Amino acid sequence: MDALIDAAVRARENARAKFSSFKVGAALEDSTGRVHTGCNVENVSYGLTVCAERVAAFKAISEGAREFRRIAIAADTNMLTPPCGACRQVLWELCGDIEVILVNMHGKAETLRLKDLFPRPFDDSIL
Ligand code: THU
Repeated sequence: MDALIDAAVRARENARAKFSSFKVGAALEDSTGRVHTGCNVENVSYGLTVCAERVAAFKAISEGAREFRRIAIAADTNMLTPPCGACRQVLWELCGDIEVILVNMHGKAETLRLKDLFPRPFDDSIL
């Protein structure tokens, strides 16, 4: 298995998903090959929940990473789980047009590009 997918599957185990029981893991590879993982962290004030993808992206930025290649996103669904709209915005701004690998617990996987998941973005090219 691709090590990045493996990292996302393992990160998913750390999810704090006590309200939805929907665990998600993410693994973001930077341009040096370093992998930054994340899981969803839910809060009783539901809107404060942070998705796995944003946790991974913010961890990476906070560690000094600035260029990225790929993100793997793992969830236990038959229809593969894509990043939510908020995460697409954040990933686009922080990571650019990275490869997005969606994977489930049965080894089903699909690779997309962020620009296809997030066409016509609002970003600093507009300002
Ligand atoms: N979630 C993620 O972490 N990433 C996604 O791509 C979809 C949704 C989380 C947020 C919340 O904790 C739970 O999954 C249910 O929406």
